[in-house]
Amino acid sequence: MTNLIQMTDIRKVFYADEVETHALAGIHLNIEKGEYVSISGPSGCGKSTLLSLLGLLDTPTDGQYRLNDVAVEDINASQRAKIRNKEIGFIFQAFNLIGDLSVLENVELPLTYRDGVSKSERRERAMEALNRVGMAHRIKHFPSQLSGGQQQRVAVARALVGQPSILLADEPTGNLDSKNGEAVMALLAELHAGGATICMVTHDPRYADFADRKVFMFDGQIVDEETLHKLRQEEEQRLEDQISQARARRSAQPAEIDEQA
Ligand SMILES: Nc1ncnc2c1ncn2[C@@H]1O[C@H](COP(=O)(O)OP(=O)(O)O)[C@@H](O)[C@H]1O
Ligand SMILES: [Mg+2]
Repeated sequence: MTNLIQMTDIRKVFYADEVETHALAGIHLNIEKGEYVSISGPSGCGKSTLLSLLGLLDTPTDGQYRLNDVAVEDINASQRAKIRNKEIGFIFQAFNLIGDLSVLENVELPLTYRDGVSKSERRERAMEALNRVGMAHRIKHFPSQLSGGQQQRVAVARALVGQPSILLADEPTGNLDSKNGEAVMALLAELHAGGATICMVTHDPRYADFADRKVFMFDGQIVDEETLHKLRQEEEQRLEDQISQARARRSAQPAEIDEQA
């Protein structure tokens, strides 16, 4: 079996202030070892929710999720943390480095939660990861002393250091200018060429093109590209209709006000 990830009919409902949000409405997704998959779709369609379920940061309301052939949909929080630490490397849009830890300490952090990794091994592996992202010359710096692009490279090193089964990246270029964004994308491409399995959420079609396989989402479901295009056009049309109706109402109103004046 080369299937690293198998999601079957995954659903996620959020309950807040008596409002039910069906963020994921029946997701079927398989990812094989060594694949590079991109996920895109309009804002609010469930991309981040899907990624946090993939990364065991949250649990589904319903459905099956097998990670490395282990059923993980129902495991408790401490088992989840343990599997997450071993299998998952997460890269966030906002980097999420810890401000009062140095670059080296940030990258070592995932290994401090593992049994049987000595201090010297931790250091050695963190240095190796920092070398891979070209940040080994900044180990004593603190995150605030680095540019956004550099911070994201450190965050990539932190995601890599535990040799996870998969790297999950949620809009990793979202807080970067295009030059730094492209550098981070080149870095991910290089890691993929070296064998890493990657699943990346992006709204930028140019960046989705880096992936082997593009997955599109709309309203909590995976759809094909054509369907997405059609649904988006329908949505835009609805929005335009609403706007022109609102305009029509507004242009009717001033006349009434004039009459009153
Ligand atoms: N913690 C939460 N509580 C309530 N609703 C949430 C929560 N997280 C996400 N949602 C809702 O779920 C839907 C999907 O959100 P999200 O996965 O963040 O979308 P995307 O990343 O595609 O923009 C949205 O309608 C969002 O408002
Ligand atoms: Mg998101």
